[in-house]
Amino acid sequence: MNSSAISVRFAAAKRCAAGLAVGVGLAAPAAAADDVGAAQVVDAIEAAFGVTPGARRNHIKGSCALGDFVASPEAANYSRSALFSGQAVPVVARFSLAGGNPGVADTAKSPRGMALAFKLPDGSVQHMTMLNTPIFGAAHPRTFLDLMVALRPDPATGKPDPEKIKAFKATHPDNQAQADYLARRNPPASYATSAYWGIHTFKFIDRADKTTLVRWRFTPQAGEQNLSDDALKSAPPNFLEPELIERTRRAPVRWHMMVSIGEPGDAEDNPTLAWPENRKQFRAGTLTISAAMPQAGAACETINFDPLVMSDGIAPTNDPILLFRSPAYALSFAKRMGGK
Ligand code: HEM
Repeated sequence: MNSSAISVRFAAAKRCAAGLAVGVGLAAPAAAADDVGAAQVVDAIEAAFGVTPGARRNHIKGSCALGDFVASPEAANYSRSALFSGQAVPVVARFSLAGGNPGVADTAKSPRGMALAFKLPDGSVQHMTMLNTPIFGAAHPRTFLDLMVALRPDPATGKPDPEKIKAFKATHPDNQAQADYLARRNPPASYATSAYWGIHTFKFIDRADKTTLVRWRFTPQAGEQNLSDDALKSAPPNFLEPELIERTRRAPVRWHMMVSIGEPGDAEDNPTLAWPENRKQFRAGTLTISAAMPQAGAACETINFDPLVMSDGIAPTNDPILLFRSPAYALSFAKRMGGK
């Protein structure tokens, strides 16, 4: 998931388990998606990163935040979700680094996550669990599983075996686009200066039951800003959380929710394929984050940010990765809530 040369960048790859997308399966083993189970994948994540009892198996390092979302009038033309009523909707957020290593440095060239739980005026809940890459590193769960297996530390060295990672890269071209994206840029200077993509294609359903295929992303009002090459070398390992806490103490931080509308032929079930940039877009609303805090004991800690928690008016596609996430998150959630 992480670098174009994942084989030689296993240290970074080890940190970014959640950021990988499933490819088209071109070179994926014939066994493909259907025979991969959530328990198998969670076991493989645990074997790659180890287990921190009571903590997330993936995206373990993170911070909680609170804010609200106000929709633009245009969004209600496409979706009848109460998210788009125009009223301020309270949000519990979590920002994170991909992977199951709680000590991962904030300079790691791995995905960052933004997870949102919206409490809607009609009492329902909407989740959006996103990454700071427009595409994922696996088109099928099998690719994700195979990466976790490749990242398993060699007992002799305590590190992943570079040959196994090389072999993974050679046989899973669906991992490449996201790996290249991550390799080409430095990580964000702040959680607040990153864009976050929903990655999957979703359905917006309006009041007349008309469905529109959409993809969304959140773009930072502060502008996108990544670490400079110098900062990448000198930044301390834990700057993201204190920076967000301080920044939100000074003033709220905002993102625009931008929605692209799909056209015939755009990838619907494959999160490794980007849509053309010239798709029709509209601003669906503004997310405001007004406070941030460490995750321990805060509201986001005990939320399962399952991306299939959706309100009426927003629905999933048949993307096999999107559908696979729900049982995998449920298993990780059950374990950590059980103190395991
Ligand atoms: C086969 C694909 C995937 C698997 C198996 C997987 C697995 C997991 C697991 C087990 C967790 C921890 C859940 C918990 O304990 O609450 C997690 C968290 C997360 N994943 Fe994934 N994931 C996958 C794909 C994705 C994709 C495509 C995205 C983004 C579009 C994503 C973004 C995230 C984020 C942001 C978190 C942290 C959520 C939080 O803050 O609680 N993952 N993932």
